[in-house]
Amino acid sequence: MLKGYFTKHRLGPIMVGEEFVNMIPKAKGQIWKACVNGDAVEVIALSNAVLLDVLRDNVGTLGVKRGCDLGTCGCCAVMVDGEPRLSCLCLAGDAEGSEITTVEGLADGHHLSPIQNCFAEYGGSQCGFCTPGFLISAQALLNQTDDPSEEEIAKAIEGNLCRCTGYQQISDSIRAAASILRGEKENKNPTITPHSNPHPTGPEEPNMPPGHAR
Ligand code: FES
Ligand code: FES
Repeated sequence: MLKGYFTKHRLGPIMVGEEFVNMIPKAKGQIWKACVNGDAVEVIALSNAVLLDVLRDNVGTLGVKRGCDLGTCGCCAVMVDGEPRLSCLCLAGDAEGSEITTVEGLADGHHLSPIQNCFAEYGGSQCGFCTPGFLISAQALLNQTDDPSEEEIAKAIEGNLCRCTGYQQISDSIRAAASILRGEKENKNPTITPHSNPHPTGPEEPNMPPGHAR
């Protein structure tokens, strides 16, 4: 009888060794609201969900990357009310009602932001997996100052890991973006024309070797 009661209510004491220990109630789905990249969003998320999961799985902002899930790589960085945060370490509930900016929110429509243009121009992005997190950390810095020192740049990106670039190109990109913001350098700001079909199939499909994802 006791077993049936605990199964039905999914909580209650269980035996651990010789002691009864209370179980944690199962997480429930609940409404989660925030402003993501300027849009009001309302989704159903688990009460104990982390922000990274809600942004990727419920909101659909897949630019937020899951690298380590441990707070060490910076790939999952987003801005919450203007502050860079590691979304893998942030409970979604703590960010409820906030203004959240992901990498998708940096461009102005089809016009790349200065920091995005400079990453492309100065080689700040190579394989690109770390890039969304770096862009967010860099933009958060540039929102504070348009003339960051080397030390301020290093501090802003100290939580972001990159295995490809060696960091010099990233630092150059941030300094170049700062000079655009100061009006000393032109923002090339090319208009990006979206591909009519980003996942072509049939005759137009690139001939990829087996095992390579599109
Ligand atoms: S996935 Fe969040 S810090 Fe690595
Ligand atoms: S560009 Fe590849 S990990 Fe940074």
